[in-house]
Amino acid sequence: MFGMTVRPDLAQRMARIAPFEVMEVLEAARRLEVSGRDVIHLEVGEPDFPTPPPVIAAAQRALATRPMFYTSAVGMPELREAISRWYQISFGVTVAMERIVVTAGSSAALLMALGALVDPGERVLMADPGYPCNRNFVRFLDAEPVLVPSGPADAYQLTAPLARSAWGPGVRAAIAASPSNPTGTCLEASEWAALASVCRARDGVLIADEIYQGLVYDGPAETVLAVADDVWVVNSFSKYFQMTGWRLGWLVVPEGCTREIEKVAQNLYISAPTPAQHAALAALSPEGLEVLEQRRVELGARRDVLLEELPKIGFAIRARPQGAFYIYCDVSAFTDDSFAFADWLLERTGVALTPGLDFGDAAPERHLRIAYTQPVDRLREAVARIGAALDGQPSRG
Ligand SMILES: Cc1ncc(COP(=O)(O)O)c(C=O)c1O
Repeated sequence: MFGMTVRPDLAQRMARIAPFEVMEVLEAARRLEVSGRDVIHLEVGEPDFPTPPPVIAAAQRALATRPMFYTSAVGMPELREAISRWYQISFGVTVAMERIVVTAGSSAALLMALGALVDPGERVLMADPGYPCNRNFVRFLDAEPVLVPSGPADAYQLTAPLARSAWGPGVRAAIAASPSNPTGTCLEASEWAALASVCRARDGVLIADEIYQGLVYDGPAETVLAVADDVWVVNSFSKYFQMTGWRLGWLVVPEGCTREIEKVAQNLYISAPTPAQHAALAALSPEGLEVLEQRRVELGARRDVLLEELPKIGFAIRARPQGAFYIYCDVSAFTDDSFAFADWLLERTGVALTPGLDFGDAAPERHLRIAYTQPVDRLREAVARIGAALDGQPSRG
């Protein structure tokens, strides 16, 4: 268990790396399914859509016609160029391809960015609740994550005022994600600019996680690069582009830093998967983007259904989720142990949800994350099942 002793022949840091508690929910959900129950999976952090057909076709063409050798450690030039063009077309932002490094998922991008920037013992600010891997990456580098509690008033984000007051000795960097996992909330351009300037003023660095970037439902997608170009930006083909298993992402680094990341990538994994890089070219093509846009609209409709239905069964939504495919619900009306509550709901209703535990220390026992990675009729059914199970349960008032 996290924080307990590790085998004596392992490094000390291993005791500081936490496993994903959500895996326990997944396991329990799978066991239930094997026993014949109909489980509605709202716990998984990946889209339910298959890879877009133009992407699969491009991969098949490439596999049939191209040698699948390593690529350059920073990625195929055509793909780096295509990403650069995509920034120009989608956001009107010029990002030179030389600043773009194609990575093995954004996970590799995050680890390399942190590894390049943070020395052992230094500290990294991040919002709590937030994406669990960030704190484990920081710990893996023998640095220290600083979890900054952020609530509905800050839309669960690491805002500039929160970063300013949390900044202390030894802080080297801040990480923020927009839209965020687990809350789906966003930072607006002006908030990104303010956060970047807090970091800059303290000789620190901002790492922006834009992995859910295209998945927004209340307005156009944005990038921090429109307001700051000294930020390290992590992005991915996993979520908006719906290619989780292809393991492809990218990192935008400030001018002059590419060579440093190239060295790390060469050593860590040599190059990102070659078939996936060919496929990703099609994800960025007009045909690929057309499919993705339809799916974005579908995800938005799902969100709207849940925004309407969840409060009716007492699941409170304290800050409007504008993007990703997550809703972070306050379930304190029913429990002060969201882990046990999720377990009970799963057993009772066959609906799998993620307890707040993985996302930090800021009242995880009062929260659940719902991933709307199922069609609308299944979402409605999930809410109906939960509503029925809670009906008649003593509310904590
Ligand atoms: C906020 C956030 N960042 C990064 C990742 C890593 O994704 P990948 O390595 O698939 O790009 C995830 C995955 O769920 C995430 O939610």
